[in-house]
Amino acid sequence: MELTREEQDMAAGKYGKATQTAMDILITLGEIYGAEKLIDITSVQIAGVSYANLNEPGLSWLENMAQDGKVRVFTTLNPAGMDLEEWRKLAISEEFAENQQRVIEAFGRLGVITTCSCTPYLYGNLPAYGQHISWSESSAVCYANSVLGAKTNREGGPSALSAALVGKTPEYGFHLEENRQPELTVEVKCEVKDTYRFGALGKVLGDRFGKKITYITGIPKASVEELKSFCASYATYGGVALFHMKDITPNRVNKVPDTVETVTEEDMKKALGDLDDETEIDFISLGCPHASLKELEYIAKKLEGKSINPKKEVWITTARPTKQIADRMGFTKLIEDSGAKIAADTCCVVAPIKGRFHGLASDSAKMCYYGSGRNKFAVKLMSMDECLEEALS
Ligand code: F3S
Repeated sequence: MELTREEQDMAAGKYGKATQTAMDILITLGEIYGAEKLIDITSVQIAGVSYANLNEPGLSWLENMAQDGKVRVFTTLNPAGMDLEEWRKLAISEEFAENQQRVIEAFGRLGVITTCSCTPYLYGNLPAYGQHISWSESSAVCYANSVLGAKTNREGGPSALSAALVGKTPEYGFHLEENRQPELTVEVKCEVKDTYRFGALGKVLGDRFGKKITYITGIPKASVEELKSFCASYATYGGVALFHMKDITPNRVNKVPDTVETVTEEDMKKALGDLDDETEIDFISLGCPHASLKELEYIAKKLEGKSINPKKEVWITTARPTKQIADRMGFTKLIEDSGAKIAADTCCVVAPIKGRFHGLASDSAKMCYYGSGRNKFAVKLMSMDECLEEALS
């Protein structure tokens, strides 16, 4: 890769050890993927924040980087392994909480905004169309590329942090316009609405077409909540970082692909059936990706004056800023008076809850995937209304 004078100085250690390590990582990546140069980025989202993922080696690497490193662009964080303020109500151990706080403090020293959410675009890390960014967190990457029209590869935690410290990323993959065109047209021939059905559609497409960039037709409209659910599922089941949706997503399509595949109600039923284990539900997870304020308002109104079955645990995961507004609007009180818990800053996949529950219900196909694969729960994909009915029954 061709490096500017400043980049060469960074690589030589003139800007400190952390920046030198970051340059090493970016140069290695650039060489592997054939990038010719580094390009400026405007924002970063870092995943791999939970102590459950990092463990001691990850945390000491981070603390090392924090000795002399400082981010050069606006940088936010993915969910941590617990609610950073009310972790006790989620029955997180003292030891885990202490280590998780060390992780957050290290990111803070690095100059990262310690927001801890997988929907950074809902509260301030909102790139404009066409901007180059460096994000990890597969659902947010898919949303940023497809729905916002920003440009990012699927970064890992270390490469995203490196990009933040240097303010640049190697120019390859989805940063190049020629790699962003659709390869396949998919006609959706059934009704798709609600977060859970958008999640099921993501599973159908991911299972069938993998990472291929699709041009999707037949969806008349989609809300932010439906799109975030779709992005999370499609990125999980297919590893997809970019799709186009006719009349909904903003990216330019030079030519609609001639190869056409269809998705029918039968395909949707099969996907829903795959995520319908015969099981007793004792854990309900909503807010994957993190719940929007609109979703919290909806849930609060549904739960007002009602009581959750005490044998069931309900977590609604969201970003701290969203919860703060929900507090002011009285939504938090309505939800928590019912017995459900708002879990800010965290996510049911990266919280240390393996073995604590048996049967998980969620309106998120992504949560079902990891609930089953990582936490070994039996899972059921249901609409948000059905999840809430399940919690009350
Ligand atoms: Fe976010 Fe966790 Fe779901 S990171 S997308 S709430 S699995």
